[in-house]
Formats: sequence, structure tokens, C-alpha cells
Amino acid sequence: MLTDLKPQPADKILALMQAFREDPRENKIDLGVGVYKNAEGVTPVMRAVKAAEQRLVETQETKAYTGLAGDPAYAAAMRGLILSDSVDAGRVAAVATPGGTGAIRQGLELMQYADRAATIWLSAPTWPNHPSIVKYLGIPMREYRYLASDLPVVDFDGMMEDLKGVKAGDLVLLHGCCHNPTGANLTAEQWAVVADHLEATGAIPFIDIAYQGFGDGLEEDAYGVRLLAARMPEMIVAASCSKNFGVYRERTGLLMAIAPEQKSKAEAQATLNFLNRQNYSFPPDHGARVVQMILDDPELRADWQTELEDVRLGMLKLREQLARELRNRTNSDRFDFIAEHRGMFSRLGATPAQVEVLREKYGIYMIGDSRINIAGLNEATVPIVAQAIAVEIG
Ligand code: LMR
Repeated sequence: MLTDLKPQPADKILALMQAFREDPRENKIDLGVGVYKNAEGVTPVMRAVKAAEQRLVETQETKAYTGLAGDPAYAAAMRGLILSDSVDAGRVAAVATPGGTGAIRQGLELMQYADRAATIWLSAPTWPNHPSIVKYLGIPMREYRYLASDLPVVDFDGMMEDLKGVKAGDLVLLHGCCHNPTGANLTAEQWAVVADHLEATGAIPFIDIAYQGFGDGLEEDAYGVRLLAARMPEMIVAASCSKNFGVYRERTGLLMAIAPEQKSKAEAQATLNFLNRQNYSFPPDHGARVVQMILDDPELRADWQTELEDVRLGMLKLREQLARELRNRTNSDRFDFIAEHRGMFSRLGATPAQVEVLREKYGIYMIGDSRINIAGLNEATVPIVAQAIAVEIG
């Protein structure tokens, strides 16, 4: 059996992470995998997370299983954070999952379980693991245009033109905020047009929200997901706490299924519990419990929000600095979009060959589609990166 295994295509993001680790050059710069780093290049444990973990060690009396859906208090706290009061809580089924990837996987399995004929629509481009999981599960997939081919802005007309093809019961995957990999996001008006279209066609939104608080702020970043939750009869939401709580390795995510009414919510909840049981029984609890403790404790929550806001503002400053340095070095506004984009990522618009030159010659690592992780920069490395980009791409 094992001798018959065929090699799997390498995940580009994880392969780059490995290549960076193996590069012996001291001045190498990692703009690859989407992990937040501070000015010292460290991914810190957030203060509120440390405090909650300490409290947990002192007070936790058992490691016995939670429920199949995880701790309901975690789901309730996360529902509040993401959806606020946009939808009646009685319509929201939810399960804790191992990270945001686990939530996406469970959401897709739910979709497949409910309707094998439904198609999922993905933005082109999107996070590469989206199509990878969709293909792995054998779910019918279509793409909709997202980025203009000549400019790093949303091609909204192209997107809506393509989405004319959706049928009732199809799912449309949308990034809740901080689009990965482009950093280009929908405006409030555009979210409303998308909602009108989904409502009119009977298609179902599937929101991936993995960077809430990294874009324009915790409340602002939830604008689209709340607008849709308030209007749509059905919706799937896959959320990750990896970035905004910095609990990457704890694998902390949540899948929510919003049903039209309480009866179908109960059925969705039973199915989500069943899917958890088939895949891993009980979801991991540590990260979820820490997140719930933070969200439900006013002091911890306030401290978490302060630190998260510092992270967000730090990335915005780096965006502005990089755009400025590039404007000076290229004598053009070609890269001004970097300051307009939001979240961890932007795509530079470089060719794969140029990306390779930046890696080989300068030790600057970015994904092959020229996606850079803004948080991989600091004040001192911005001029170095800007100079290399100006020489090789500008
Ligand atoms: C990324 O896009 O770099 C992150 O979401 C990390 C990952 O798992 O790919």
C-alpha cells in the first residue's frame, strides 16, 4: 500500500516557509507565510493570552472531554465577536474546529453532505488551500474574477459579471476582510450589491474570516459578514483565531451555519456535531478556552483589543512607509496601492521570475504570485526591500 503512494503537490506557502528556514543567509527577509511578526521578527504570545493561560493553569480542574461542538461558551463569545447582534442567535449552529482550515473543511463537508450537486465559487485569486481542499473533496468548483488584470484593485464589474452564473443553492466563498492574497477589499456599497445578488439568486454566502482586526478595526472588519448575516436566510462562516489572538499552533477556529429558522438550525447543529465526530471527535479546547476567557472578561478583552490595535496600526505604518519608499525610488505612484490595501498581504504584481531573483539575489522571500506579508517587514528592512523591488521590478 505505502509503496503505491504518489507524491502530492507541495503547498507553495509551506514549501517557501521551509526554504526560508534552510537559507543560511543572515540578512534574509521573510515576507512569506501569513504569520504576524513584531519589529524584532518575533511572533509574540499576546499579553491577554498569557494571562488567560496562567489563570487556566491555576483554575482548570479537569481535562475530560468537552462536547462534540466544543464549549458552547466559546461559540457564543465568538458569535458575538463576529456577528454581534446582526442575526438571531437561535438561528446560528456552531462548532469549534482545529483552526480556520478545520472550519473551512467542515463547512465544505457540510455543504457536500447537504447537497452534492451544489457548486462552490471561489475568487480568482484566493488562498491556495481553498481550491486544494475543494478539489480534494471532489466538490464542483467555479471561479469568479476578483482582481483587475492590470491594476491591484478589485475588478468588481468582472466579479459581478461572473457571479451571474450562480444558481440557487450554490455557495459563494467571500473573504470577510483582508483578502488573501491580494489585500484588496470590497467597499460597503459593493458588499450591498453582492448581498442583493445572492438574495435574488438564492446562492449562499460562505465567509472565510481569518483576519478580523487586522484591516480597519474589529468592528469595521466584520461589516460584510454582519450585513449578509442580517439579510441572508442561510450562510456559512468559517473563522480563525490564529492571527487576531496569535494562537496559531493551538488550532483555534469556529464554523457557524446560519439557518433560516430554529428547526433547521437544530438539524444543522446535529450534522456539524456528527461531522466533528467523524473527523476527530472532540475539537481541541485549549486555544478555544483561552479565547473565550479573554472575550468574556472585560479587563482581558480590553487589553487584547489594545494590543491587536497596536498590531494593526503597526502594519498600516509599514504599508505607508513601503509605499513612500517605493514612490521615491521608482519616481512613480505605481506602488501606492500598498498603502490603500488592508490586512497582512498585498500582491506586488511581479512575475515569478522576478520573485525568484528577489529570493536568490537578495534573500527576500515572498510567495510566487508576488504576495508579500507586510508584517514580515520592519522600519529597518523596508528601505532594503523597497530598493530591491525598485531595481528588479520597478
Ligand atoms: C497564509 O496564507 O500564509 C496563512 O493563512 C497561513 C497558511 O496556513 O497558509
